[in-house]
Amino acid sequence: MALSTLSSLFKLSTFTLFFLVLFGPSYGQLSANFYTTTCPNFRSIIRSAVNTAVSNEARMGASLLRLHFHDCFVNGCDASVLLDDTANFTGEKTARPNSNSIRGFNIIDTIKTQLESQCPGVVSCADILSAAASDSVVALGGPSWNVLFGRRDSTTASLSAANSNLPSGASSLSTLISSFSNQGFTTNEMIALSGAHTIGQARCTTFRNRLYNDNNINASFAASLTPNCPSSGGDNNLSPLDSSPTTFDNRYYRDLINQRGLLHSDQELFNGGSADAQVRTYSTNPTTFSRDFASAMLKMSNLNPLTGSSGQVRTNCRRTN
Ligand code: HEM
Ligand SMILES: *[C@@H]1O[C@H](CO)[C@@H](O)[C@H](O)[C@H]1NC(C)=O
Ligand SMILES: *[C@@H]1O[C@H](CO)[C@@H](O)[C@H](O)[C@H]1NC(C)=O
Repeated sequence: MALSTLSSLFKLSTFTLFFLVLFGPSYGQLSANFYTTTCPNFRSIIRSAVNTAVSNEARMGASLLRLHFHDCFVNGCDASVLLDDTANFTGEKTARPNSNSIRGFNIIDTIKTQLESQCPGVVSCADILSAAASDSVVALGGPSWNVLFGRRDSTTASLSAANSNLPSGASSLSTLISSFSNQGFTTNEMIALSGAHTIGQARCTTFRNRLYNDNNINASFAASLTPNCPSSGGDNNLSPLDSSPTTFDNRYYRDLINQRGLLHSDQELFNGGSADAQVRTYSTNPTTFSRDFASAMLKMSNLNPLTGSSGQVRTNCRRTN
């Protein structure tokens, strides 16, 4: 009797466990080993594709990092940023912060194609973006973080949320603080995440006003930029966001202290306000910056993911299944 009770209890709990695994509710949990059995090589596939892309063009590491940011700040890290516009669907690619600006889609497509051939329908585009962002930073000499997996891909996108959630290069310090606090980040985390501008390039149109109208810019720095960014024309001409744009280091903060921030928003972090002290700390302490950047990136990459049976795993990152 006792034995059969025990045995049926065991059967019940085995069944319950089985049921939970198959149909269980999602707790929004991501995990480090999400693809261990379903796509064991996914991590090395992504890493080597990112390394190839970055060795072909160092800037691609910056572009892939930015894609992840522009994904996560718009209704969570759900690969919404990758959806192409169609006749009856408007995605986020034409939003003001994205249009003629975000790049790296071909690299994501290449990675997705490789993953689909090894493990069809398994690895989400949102997880690819998360892993590629971390691998990009590492490829350019920056810190790594322990990316978690299990995000699923959206079937929707929001042009209006992309326009309102992603701050522009003309932002004031208070706008930067509030747009990051809207996503749950402290001012210090915002300052650390801004250190992403230690890599990559910006178009003249995003910093022209700073060259011609800001007072808190080193005059010889401004003069060095004006030939490539005249007061009119040359909108798409590129300049580096810091003085070592292919190395992930703390140079960005040292440039800010020398009034050599490229974007108005960058220099807002060191302009006599509440961010100055943290900028000084990062400018002299690369290890502290690396640690804070990595932990803020991990937090960003976990923003509001779709998990369980929400969303889908797209087979093509540019469109829903
Ligand atoms: C703090 C608020 C931020 C503002 C106002 C801002 C603004 C901008 C602007 C205007 C550009 C140049 C875009 C263009 O030329 O079209 C840019 C580039 C870039 N941003 Fe930000 N950004 C911010 C935060 C971040 C964060 C949090 C990350 C990543 C964690 C990031 C990563 C990048 C990278 C890597 C580039 C260079 C991309 C490339 O070369 O392709 N930014 N950002
Ligand atoms: C949207 O357009 C595509 C072709 O671009 C078509 O295949 C699809 O059925 C359309 N969907 C809706 C809901 O109208
Ligand atoms: C601007 O930078 C140059 C170095 O290139 C420096 O000699 C000069 O003193 C700086 N100007 C100011 C006002 O700090």
